[in-house]
This record gives sequence, C-alpha cells and structure tokens, in this order.
Amino acid sequence: MAVSKAFIQDLHDRLRIEDVVSSYVNLTRAGKNMKGLCPFHNEKTASFTIFPDTNSFYCFGCGAGGDVINFIMRMENLDYVEALKRGADLAGISMPDDGYDDSYAKIRLRILSANREAARFFNSELYKKENAHALEYYAKRGLSVKTITHFGLGYAPDDWHALTNYLKSKGYTEQDLVLANLARRRDGKSGCYDNFRNRIMFPIIDLRGNVVAFSGRVLDDSKPKYVNTSDTPVYKKGNVIFGLNFAKNNSEKKLIVVEGQMDVIALHQAGFTNAVACLGTAFTSEQANILSRYADEVLICYDNDEAGKKATARVLSILNNTGIRTKVINMEGGKDPDEIIRNYGRERFISLIEGAANRVEYALNEQMRHFDIRTDDGKAKFLSSAAEILAGCSPVERDIYSLRLSNEFGISKEALEGQIKMAYGKLRKRRKAERERDEFEVITNSFEDKNNPQKAGNLRAAKAEERLITSLMKNPAFYKDIKDKFTPDDFITDFNKRVITHLIYLIENNYATTPAMFASEFSADEMGTISLLEVNGELIGNTVKECEDCIAVLKQEAAKGTANPAEMSDAEFLNSFKK
Ligand code: UTP
Ligand code: MN
Repeated sequence: MAVSKAFIQDLHDRLRIEDVVSSYVNLTRAGKNMKGLCPFHNEKTASFTIFPDTNSFYCFGCGAGGDVINFIMRMENLDYVEALKRGADLAGISMPDDGYDDSYAKIRLRILSANREAARFFNSELYKKENAHALEYYAKRGLSVKTITHFGLGYAPDDWHALTNYLKSKGYTEQDLVLANLARRRDGKSGCYDNFRNRIMFPIIDLRGNVVAFSGRVLDDSKPKYVNTSDTPVYKKGNVIFGLNFAKNNSEKKLIVVEGQMDVIALHQAGFTNAVACLGTAFTSEQANILSRYADEVLICYDNDEAGKKATARVLSILNNTGIRTKVINMEGGKDPDEIIRNYGRERFISLIEGAANRVEYALNEQMRHFDIRTDDGKAKFLSSAAEILAGCSPVERDIYSLRLSNEFGISKEALEGQIKMAYGKLRKRRKAERERDEFEVITNSFEDKNNPQKAGNLRAAKAEERLITSLMKNPAFYKDIKDKFTPDDFITDFNKRVITHLIYLIENNYATTPAMFASEFSADEMGTISLLEVNGELIGNTVKECEDCIAVLKQEAAKGTANPAEMSDAEFLNSFKK
C-alpha cells in the first residue's frame, strides 16, 4: 500500500476537517477547536472534538480519532484508499492513478457487480412458469408488478446451484460469490452452494444505487423466516437503511421508520414514499446520523407488540440526542403498517400519522400504561412519574403538558409544577453524577489501551514513550538534538515502537507530523490512539530537556527489565551474559 505522502499532504492542505465533519455533525466552537455529539457512539454531552490545527478529530468519550480521511472511512464505511478518493473528490483534486494498491477496491467492485447480476437473475426467475407460486405470493400480499419492478424484487429458486451456475457462466469465480455471501463453501469439500434458496428476494440498495446485500423471506411459516447477507466487504449491518435510496428524494424532510422491508414496500406502493426500515440490527447511532442528514422529523412506526415498543424506546433515546424531532405512530387495528394498509387502506394510515404522538406525549402515554389511573393511588403515582418526564422538558413543553394533565386529572397546575420542580432538582444531581462517571471512564480508559496492550504492564515506560512521541509530533525540530541519544529499539511497547519509527521517517523526510501522515500505516482503531497522542501535546511542557528525561526513563526501565533474572525467559537469561 503506497499512496504517495506528498499527495496525502496536498490533500490535507485542501480538505478542511471542519468542512467535512460539519455536513454530518453539528459543531460548535470551543476555543480554537470545535465540539459536537460523537457520531460513533451514543452520548448526551459533546466529547467529539475537531482540531483544525492538525486537521484531525478525537472523541474523549469513545476513543475514536484520526484524520479527515479516517473520519470519512468510518462515516461511509470505506477502506483507506476509497476514502482518499472520496476526499480527493471533495477537495476537487484528482488522485494519482498509479502508486497505490487498489486490489481491495477491485474486489468490492466485483462483489457489487455480482450482486447486481444476481438481483437481475432473481427478478427474471419470478416470471418463469415453474415459479408461478412466487409471483402468486407477491399477488397475495397485494404487491403490483410495478412495485416489484420498482424495488427489484425477485425469487431465489428451490435449487442448490441455480445462482452459482448462472453467475459462473457470466465469468464470476466461486471466490467472488462466497465473498459476496451469495454462495457458501461446502464444509471440507470443494465447490459451493447457493445461500438463498426458495425465498422471495429483497435487494438492499445503498444511497448510490448499489445492490449491497439481499434479504430473503420464506414463502410459508417455516424457519428461519429471513436469511440475510452477512457482513461483506461492501455491506455492514447497521449502516444501510432500506428504502432510503427512494425516500431521500422527498422534498419534505420527514421520514417514516418501520421495522420490516415488507412494510416499506407496502407504504411506498400506497404513496408513502418516505418510508424506510433500519434492517439487520438494533437501531444504531450510525443509522441515526444517516437519518439526520435527510430528515428533520422522524415518525416511528414499529410493530404493535412488546418487541416493537422496546425498539421504539431505543430509537427515541438515540434520535433525541441528534436533534431530530420524533413522533410515534400508535398503530391500532394491525400488527404492522403493511397489515393496516392492506386491511384498511391508505386513508387509515393518514389519520394514524395525523394522530402521531410527539416525544412528550408518547412518554406520558407509555407511563400511563403502567398505572391504574382509576384509583387515587395510581393517579398520584402516575403524576409523580409524569413530573419526572416533564422535568426533562423545555419550559414551554412543561407549561403545555402540566396544563393538559391538570385538566385531565382535576388537580391544580401549581401542585403539578411544584412536583416538577422537585423532580428537576433530582434530575440535575443525577446528570452531574453521570457526567463525573463519564469523565472518570475517560481517565481510566487511557491506562488500558486496546491498541497498546503492553501499556498496562509497562506503565512508566509507556508514558515516557508517549510523552516523547507527543513532544516530537508537536516539535519535530527537537529531533536533531536528541537523535543520537535513542533509537526506536529503546521503546518497550511494540505499538509505540511502530509509532516512533514512522514518526522518525516523517521527520527525516520533512513531512508534516500530523495524524494524517500516519493514517495509511495504522488501522482506523489505532488512529484513535495516535490522535490522542497528538492531542496531549497541549498538556506537556514541550522542551528538549523533557524529551531527554523521557529517554532516561526508557533506559532505566529497560535496565530494570534485564536486571531481574527471575522474570526472564531462558533465552533472555542466556543473552544477558553476552552483553
Ligand atoms: P417481522 O417478523 O415483523 O417481519 O420482522 P415482517 O417484515 O412483518 O414480514 P412479513 O410481513 O411477515 O412478511 C421485521 C423485520 O425484521 C427482520 C426483517 O428485516 C423483517 O422485515 N427479520 C425478521 C430478520 O432479519 N430475520 C428474521 O428471522 C425475522
Ligand atoms: Mn409484516
């Protein structure tokens, strides 16, 4: 992997991280840096920080970090070279065609093209005489041929090799098919077999129109009900939103989020072309971020059962951190949107949308289900938990709902407001405790670094290594004063040894020593630690003397390591005589 460092540096001069990040995350100024809610983990207070000086980011909550290219990699689920290309596009420069290894990008292109071919195959199978039962299944579920074509739906025949043979005849290899998860290898034997058999097929299409995965449903009640593409080089569960390729074109920035792909399809057919489904996993903050790019308001419309209610609570808590307005559709008369449309038609669904509860109404309704409000005792308990909910709301919301509740329950508004005040005091205390706990976690995490597992056992040495790295990153000019006093081999932890080796290479070649210049040699996870090292530059003294002290500590620690024969391996013990 050899993208020229000169190109990377040029790209970084033109591509400002704050410009790229601000199209995903709301940023506010914090001194010379900027802060926002981390798109990579769920948080309530902003610990995601942008450093315009070094064109890099670091999240003090989850440890994600790196340069602008790492940010694009994580956000868009791209590999390093693809993210560089995307970055080059954004910066309006072109990437040199030679000098980088694009084999992974080529594999991805082959998988995407195999998927597209497979989708065509499944669709054409649907119209074969011997597969009439599949077309009938769609008809029974009320889908028109127009809808089938629009979503590219199809049928995987009841055969172990139909797709495999077809795609091989088109020039795809078994390896392509296995990597795409369209086929599976036979245990211990040669050859492979179709992953999807006798299922109606839903292609999953990303925002660029690529077929990235499939979901296949049985035609009866057998199990498993769905088989889905597992993670592949082009698909990561929790990153794709089904139907968004169509829904994003809506002029209104409103999306309806449902549980299943059948619900999305039924809603689109009925004219609700802003319906999407978050397939594959429990709702993730990555999905929330994608939604927030296309919607100001999200209507949640999950199944009318306990699992659906649980999932709704999760979606609400994640979305409420993104600033999207949320409403919950209360589905009466059917288990899911597909059933409601089929049983009662589109008018019913319109009135359900109109009656959707906002965030506060939904929370109050859900609380109410837990109490018997016909008794005084139940009423009092409900109102005190309602006060807790309202304590977390804006003053206007508090006013509206305390008036509504006081009318509904025949109590004075003042009494309710008193209760809300008390709840607010408790809430503040709890939030303060949470904040302190979060801060504590950041501090303890920094001793246990998953990128540098040797750190915990060599804390003193690792800290000296890190200080030296940080110091040199901030002040590359120091290197000439200390270069005769140490080599990377004086480093005790392997991770830091790799970092210092690369850092010295950058300094000796007059490259910038920002995180960007590390990103092609270190993984996205490792870049988190490297960004932290860079960030720590704010905290240290930055003198040559300090670097010399660090080197002295490393020498002491190394001496300690060899001075205790009890802790040496046999080979080390023998070696110690050779010095
Ligand atoms: P449901 O069981 O509610 O299915 O699962 P559905 O969408 O209503 O399908 P129909 O109406 O019975 O045909 C909701 C979603 O959960 C995922 C699928 O994406 C499904 O659409 N799921 C469900 C799976 O991935 N695997 C399963 O085994 C079941
Ligand atoms: Mn259903």
